[in-house]
Amino acid sequence: MPRSRPALAALVLCWAGMAEAAPDGAALYAENCAECHGEARLGGTGPALLPDNLGRLKPAQAAEVIRGGRAQTQMPAFEGVLDEAAIEALVALVYTPPETVPEWGMAEIRASHETTGAVPAEAPIYDADPLNLFVVVETGDHHITILDGDRFEPLRRLPTAFALHGGPKFSPDGRFVYLASRDGWIEKIDMWGLEKLAKVRAGINTRNLALSHDGRFVLVGNYLPNSLTVLDAEDLRPLAVIPVADIRGTGSRVSAVYAAPPRQSFIVALKDVAEIWEIPIGPRAVKVSGLAHSNESGAEEVVDSADPFPIRRILLDEPVDDFFFTPDYRVLLGSARSGDRVVAIHLDVGREIAELPLPGMPHLGSAAAFEWQGRQVMATPHLRDAALSVIDIERFEVVDEIETLGPGFFLRAHPATPYAWVDVFFGPDADAVQVLDTRTLELVRTIRPSPGTTAGHVEFTRDGSHALVSVWADEGAVVVYNAHTLEEVKRIPMRRPVGKYNVHNRLAAAGD
Ligand code: HEC
Repeated sequence: MPRSRPALAALVLCWAGMAEAAPDGAALYAENCAECHGEARLGGTGPALLPDNLGRLKPAQAAEVIRGGRAQTQMPAFEGVLDEAAIEALVALVYTPPETVPEWGMAEIRASHETTGAVPAEAPIYDADPLNLFVVVETGDHHITILDGDRFEPLRRLPTAFALHGGPKFSPDGRFVYLASRDGWIEKIDMWGLEKLAKVRAGINTRNLALSHDGRFVLVGNYLPNSLTVLDAEDLRPLAVIPVADIRGTGSRVSAVYAAPPRQSFIVALKDVAEIWEIPIGPRAVKVSGLAHSNESGAEEVVDSADPFPIRRILLDEPVDDFFFTPDYRVLLGSARSGDRVVAIHLDVGREIAELPLPGMPHLGSAAAFEWQGRQVMATPHLRDAALSVIDIERFEVVDEIETLGPGFFLRAHPATPYAWVDVFFGPDADAVQVLDTRTLELVRTIRPSPGTTAGHVEFTRDGSHALVSVWADEGAVVVYNAHTLEEVKRIPMRRPVGKYNVHNRLAAAGD
């Protein structure tokens, strides 16, 4: 039965009234923000404004940024331009997922690809050990500093994409470094010439990248879209986009990607489904430009019907992520989603071989291995408990629990020193780092580089003679300690130096 005209008119009036009461976030966005943050909120001069990308930025903080802008950046202050109701509508909008998942396939990735025109240097342009350089990630103003690890002097400071995410990764010879950002930008930098060579946007919201054992391929793991992107490590040209879904077709975010050099493969941790993937990098993994994976539509340039990046699925009972690999890469330890135990998965046979009850949410990705009483062990901090767990990685049993000042994030060890360093990342003692004697499994020293300010992320020099610790503040620092005497040697001012990565030590390690 047709609706009567007066009723329809009332309905229209009512909508018009509502529109006046609550400002239209989408219209305000199009008018004030789209030019920098992109029409679909995917980013532009400014970062992407999607809920996953905003991550730890809370709505109240987002409102503050919109009101006051960000000093020394292009983000303007809208106070006085927009009223509180409008700002509220914009905050609500940026924390609302887009109605349709934005497209980010081969065509978009290829269109974002750029080379800078710089040519890799023929020799290092500095007089320092190229394998003892550090890449310091400064998220305070989105730069990296390349630091001479012999003299602790900055060699160069370079701008990066907004909000780097996951550790930088070096080519197997240490010649190049690859960076990934929260918004999916991948950048390649020459570690001899200290210049940027190329960039590409491999996803909309990205977790991290890994470099294949032979240095030929970059694998990028994305949350949004649910995909893996394979790039040519030489110039970051996209080679393949692999949609991520389990055997039943349920899509999943990628938690992290890892290189497993002895296996000549990549290992992929999946967030939402009970599978782990292994992607062997064999002779069939050829660099065919524009090659797209099976069900990716723009596969116009496929020349070889054989799949160059075949996926081996390891089926599990529940999702696991945050991996630690044994040194031979036969077994990985992963955290079960329930957060109360760790499972050991044998990668050759493709199944679980042990389970360890560890209720404190171990942070396996930044655990470290060492020898203790003739046994191969690793120590892992916990994100929830004030403790370190020491695990025998041959028998897969917990051998000790060590109480710390608070939950921690990063632990680092080096074969040249008996001291492993762990940070306290949460709670009232977040300004402390603690030193573990790996011979006795006793904490022997607590160091507060800058009392009252969070300290974290330790990295050794190539020879293990010094340990570098970050003071995580906008006007922060990297503090250098003598790794034997534990005395402070030097303080280098940095803008929120969230992490620092030594070329030689990272080449020998697995995680981020
Ligand atoms: C002239 C360009 C420009 C305009 C216009 C602009 N922004 Fe920004 N915005 C930026 C840049 C650049 C940043 C990153 C600042 C930094 O480096 O921290 C940013 C950062 C932000 C952030 C913080 C993101 C994060 O992850 O930390 C929010 C939220 C934001 N903008 C919202 C808005 C909204 C809403 C509007 C419209 C009312 C708007 N912006 C208009 C350039 C702009």
